[in-house]
Amino acid sequence: MCGIVGYVGGKNAQNFLISGLKRLEYRGYDSAGIVTLAEDGSSTLIRAKGKIVNLEEKLAKSKREDTIGIGHTRWATHGEPSETNAHPHQAGHLFLVHNGIIENYKDLKRTIKNHEFKSETDTEVLAALINSFYQDGKHPLMNAVVQALKLVKGTYGIAVVSELSPKEIVVARSGSPLVIGVGHDETFIASDASALVGHTKQAIYLNDGEVARVTSESIEIKTLRSEPVSAKVEEIETSLSAIQKGGYDHFLLKEIMDQPESLTETLRGRVNVKDGVVHLGGPGLSEAELRKIKHLIIVGCGTAYHAGVLAGYYIEKFAPEVTIETVIASEYRYREAYIPRDSVALIVSQSGETADTLACLREIKKQGIKTIGIVNVIGSTIAREVDGGTYVHVGPEISVASTKAFTSQVISMVMFGLTIAQAKGVKTSILRPYVEEIAKLPAEIKKVLDVNKDLIKEIAKKYKGYEHAIYLGRGTAYPTAMEGALKLKEISYIDANAYAFGELKHGPLALIDNRFFEVALLPEGELYEKAVSNVQEVLARGGKIIAVTNVDKFDLEVEDVVKITTPLKIFTPILMNLISQLFAYYMTVAIGYNVDQPRNLAKSVTVE
Ligand code: F6R
Repeated sequence: MCGIVGYVGGKNAQNFLISGLKRLEYRGYDSAGIVTLAEDGSSTLIRAKGKIVNLEEKLAKSKREDTIGIGHTRWATHGEPSETNAHPHQAGHLFLVHNGIIENYKDLKRTIKNHEFKSETDTEVLAALINSFYQDGKHPLMNAVVQALKLVKGTYGIAVVSELSPKEIVVARSGSPLVIGVGHDETFIASDASALVGHTKQAIYLNDGEVARVTSESIEIKTLRSEPVSAKVEEIETSLSAIQKGGYDHFLLKEIMDQPESLTETLRGRVNVKDGVVHLGGPGLSEAELRKIKHLIIVGCGTAYHAGVLAGYYIEKFAPEVTIETVIASEYRYREAYIPRDSVALIVSQSGETADTLACLREIKKQGIKTIGIVNVIGSTIAREVDGGTYVHVGPEISVASTKAFTSQVISMVMFGLTIAQAKGVKTSILRPYVEEIAKLPAEIKKVLDVNKDLIKEIAKKYKGYEHAIYLGRGTAYPTAMEGALKLKEISYIDANAYAFGELKHGPLALIDNRFFEVALLPEGELYEKAVSNVQEVLARGGKIIAVTNVDKFDLEVEDVVKITTPLKIFTPILMNLISQLFAYYMTVAIGYNVDQPRNLAKSVTVE
């Protein structure tokens, strides 16, 4: 949420800042700004409401050769998206960009003298606070930042520059990521390593409570208590092709179509079909520890939460005497839930930075419960703080709507469940079908995407005028329906909700009228006939149903049918979800909204 970039070196800073902001635009796109400093300290501040292209247009009229600067793309928290509220914010000679929320900004604002506030942001309060310690350069910038941050309650990733010392950038983090890219006689700053790809492979990830002063040749890191920190330089693994559209019109379509490969990466080295077992090295739990697990608590938000619900439905089918509770992180963090001693918590997050999920992780750890990360972004905060983990390895997910991560999160959690079941001595004959289907999934995903892509595009055109949608499923198809509805609503803005088929008669059936269409997920299996009866009830009330099914002899008179042909019996809901993903994509394209950057949203929710 929000993106930060910074550059100090020998090259044109504006060029890096703009290209870096474009890479981070998926994290916030209400407004953007950059400031650069010339050698004599004179500054050029350019800000614009809306997308980075607006900033770029303004920049074309104010080209500078400056070699130091910072930039920001914003997802508004305090104050509407506007040029005045856009970062960088200035106080005296210094400029600040900030991700996160300063919770006590109102109290701090009251203590600040000699600053005329122009914006409604908490960030300007922090800029003024730092300036009050900086005293127009009487004190070193880094010391002023440290003193100010000691008074701050909330979360932040920040970068600060000053006209009075135009060779240094001071950065700090608490709860919001900040990466320093180490180059040859140049140093880069970014809130997300993807902005650094193609510039350097060497990165230092700041930890919470650390502050750094960087110049083109040096990086000095210390804690807020002034203890020196020796920097650990890590390799950035992401490639340039992984963060480009690769010939597709949108990142979303690329990421949907990527799933055969991204799931293959998730499975690499972990599935042994011959012996019917899976092997996960990352969780780091001994056989004895796995055997003792009696309770799994799965924590996530949005799509990660849905992945947890679906995985839970699967795991309870084969892991004996393990109860599973999947919880929404923003709720769970404030509940006073008792966690039994013999529990393990799965912390599910694509970005590894989601504020609520991170807060749950810390809370659960405090209670002495083992935490296992199901995370995508390598080196992210959650990945670093969990006791063990399984990276899902799907590569960068850039479109705001999560797709390929979902598929791999579900399967990673199922594999963790299988690891527990193996340790508990469940017969291979029971587990083997799961292992075999997991191994077959990438090829089946490819088939379903290739066969149905054009059909879904046509169906979507038919439904684009509707205001409301209901997604329906039973058993494992129910969490799949939840995820389908989320995908549709977040990018097409159609009011879409999911219900368990069995819940219809308890209220939602009253909704059915000609403003609605329904997506019925109907996998073959023991609940199929029951779901069919529910479909009949909807049809009898004039429902317009799109049925997604793998049942060969499907003969219900529904509006549209998407038939999935697959030998899979267990993971058909995963294949059905691909249809929901494609449908949401093509609906949004047909309506004409921005697929990759839906309004009001941003990738990686680092504020509560
Ligand atoms: C929906 C979506 C969000 C995220 C949620 C959690 O398409 O992307 O619901 O799934 O914000 O994000 P992570 O997985 O990064 O913790």
